[in-house]
Amino acid sequence: METVLSGIRSTGHLHLGNYFGALRNYIKMQDEYNCFFFIADLHSLTTHPHPDDFHSGVKTILTEYLASGLDPEKSAIFVQSDVPEIVELYVLLNMIAYKGELERTAAFKEKVRKNPENVNAGLLTYPVLMAADILVHRANKVPVGKDQEQHLEMARLLARRFNNLYGVELFPEPQAFNFGSDLVKVPGLDGSGKMGKSEGNGIYLFDDEKTIHKKVMKAVTDAGPVEQNSKMAEPVENLFTLLKIVSAPETVVQFKEAFNNCTIRYGDLKKQLATDICRHTLPIREKIEEIYKDEAFLQRVIKRGTEKARESASATLYEAKKAVGFRSF
Ligand code: TYM
Repeated sequence: METVLSGIRSTGHLHLGNYFGALRNYIKMQDEYNCFFFIADLHSLTTHPHPDDFHSGVKTILTEYLASGLDPEKSAIFVQSDVPEIVELYVLLNMIAYKGELERTAAFKEKVRKNPENVNAGLLTYPVLMAADILVHRANKVPVGKDQEQHLEMARLLARRFNNLYGVELFPEPQAFNFGSDLVKVPGLDGSGKMGKSEGNGIYLFDDEKTIHKKVMKAVTDAGPVEQNSKMAEPVENLFTLLKIVSAPETVVQFKEAFNNCTIRYGDLKKQLATDICRHTLPIREKIEEIYKDEAFLQRVIKRGTEKARESASATLYEAKKAVGFRSF
């Protein structure tokens, strides 16, 4: 049976990008694959979160995973730092990851541009830790959004390089996965770029109905089309992209026609969009509060998930260390 793995950093709340880019795909895979889903708390350390907030960040994401439909009966749900085998494999993989190729990744360059004062080594080797997350379970499929495509490429490269260097066939090459189509990029509401936790342009699964309507109504648009069948400006195209993700196909066609014949009213489009977003997120929001309070349940989920993850990870690490030449006395 093929193995599926994915993870999300433990910062803030889950937004529509996380949900539609990665999580929802994963949830649909739970019945058919050997499944792992984790909270990347070590990855979140690149931005030095305050120690008082660190654990609650993990708890928030765990709660939102479960509220979204991750099923602890079907998937191993765990916290990255509870599986030290990941860190050990990360050290081994760091020895075959080269500075030049790490510096060339788009996510790294973007982080350097945005935060030139915090270009730490953890940021540079972020894709190596991610590769360790994936390879330690010998995962075949990784449901992620489009922004992670290059990191998956790096995981494949390191898998190949390790196998070749040590003459083994230990690691399969993991593929980014989205059901039957291209990877998704969920746009933000600010007119350009992707929805992100740090961009302030997101809608969260945690947002209430009023907040969602308010955010969507404030989304950037333009003055409206003046010519039939004109090209959409990026902010408007982004709203259509969101509509395609959350609404029925007829709704998209209806607004597209209104755009093409210049009768569209962006207010109506936004109202529909907000209503359809709420249809997806409000049932999740309702469960979040209840699950967050149930400490005993959260503990059970993590205990069980950690056991399964460590069992799988230690079997791989044993093989990897053997291949490298480690022997015990
Ligand atoms: P993170 O926490 O930034 O995002 C988690 C997942 O959500 C997806 N995503 C999006 N998809 C579409 N549109 C968007 N606007 C959008 N924003 C976020 C991401 O593609 C990702 O799938 N490095 C990872 C976490 C990670 C991981 C891993 C993932 C660590 N190790 C191993 C998979 C496998 C990250 O920072 O994701």
